[in-house]
Amino acid sequence: MKLVVTGNEGQVVLSLMERAALHPSIELVALGRPQLNLVQPETVFAAITDAKPDLVISAAAYTAVDQAEDEAELASSINAAGAAAVAEAAASVNAPIIHLSTDYVFSGEGTKPYTEEDVTGPKSVYGQTKRDGELAVIQANQRHLILRTAWVYSPFGKNFVKTMLRLAETRDQLSVVADQWGNPTSALDIADAILHIAGRLQTDSSFDDFGIYHLVGTGSTNWSGFAEQIFRDSQAHNGPFADVKPILTADYPTKAKRPLNSRLSTDRFFDTFGWRAPEWQKSLEPVVNRILADNSRG
Ligand SMILES: NC(=O)c1ccc[n+]([C@@H]2O[C@H](COP(=O)([O-])OP(=O)(O)OC[C@H]3O[C@@H](n4cnc5c(N)ncnc54)[C@H](OP(=O)(O)O)[C@@H]3O)[C@@H](O)[C@H]2O)c1
Repeated sequence: MKLVVTGNEGQVVLSLMERAALHPSIELVALGRPQLNLVQPETVFAAITDAKPDLVISAAAYTAVDQAEDEAELASSINAAGAAAVAEAAASVNAPIIHLSTDYVFSGEGTKPYTEEDVTGPKSVYGQTKRDGELAVIQANQRHLILRTAWVYSPFGKNFVKTMLRLAETRDQLSVVADQWGNPTSALDIADAILHIAGRLQTDSSFDDFGIYHLVGTGSTNWSGFAEQIFRDSQAHNGPFADVKPILTADYPTKAKRPLNSRLSTDRFFDTFGWRAPEWQKSLEPVVNRILADNSRG
């Protein structure tokens, strides 16, 4: 089975490359800039149709949440028009698409985990462009699986875990917001879930449960609790430690507004695919260990 993923060095792209190497029946090709540039739809079409994939994974996106407030046009051309181009190209070669989206499509009221049926209401430019992308993908390719994920970390690229470990090298205490709740998610688990879906599509030719799914780590916390767990794991591996001071979002203003509650329910994913990510603490520990080992190698 031939899979194409968009992007070169994104967290999900690199996690998929690593995990796909463990599946002999899967050939994975990453297509990114300059060959496939989401702001140039013609390159998207040419790159995907030339590759003739059986399944397209749309993982590339404009992900700078705060910067997007100042670059709405660019964010939209990548996250909405670019996503549409990927979905159209996939449809033109008769391939289904797995498109990654975000918890930031929700406004964040209440405390209950959001289900796929809940009404969206993005509070940020990034969230709005990702919601526009979802609708464009749905429109362009009937065989779509939209996976909304959240709070993604991995041994690769930029993420909260790496930032915390870096800051703790020079500081004893860090202030971290404690009133935004969500589900920390390892990109390696996202990769496993995608490969699980690929296996299902390969073996079940009558599969037609296309639609929107939530896919996040199991269990929830707030950013402050996430940071505390990072430092517990780090300390256990002789890495840097910092005390975490819980603060309110109001005390840490950012350009983009974020939902206070972005917990996502993964029941639909489990009911359809029989797969759930491990407890978030379980997935976190080996990634912290890997980042520490990578850092110590320089
Ligand atoms: N990170 C999170 O916390 C989070 C949370 C919820 C949802 N998501 C969603 O999950 C998906 C994967 O996120 P991630 O964390 O893996 O992202 P990431 O690490 O920030 O990587 C972004 C990827 O997009 C590619 N890209 C950006 N602009 C492009 C363009 N114009 N043309 C082609 N490729 C372009 C980058 O290319 P290069 O490799 O060339 O740099 C990179 O591969 C995204 O759809 C994101 O919206 C992420």
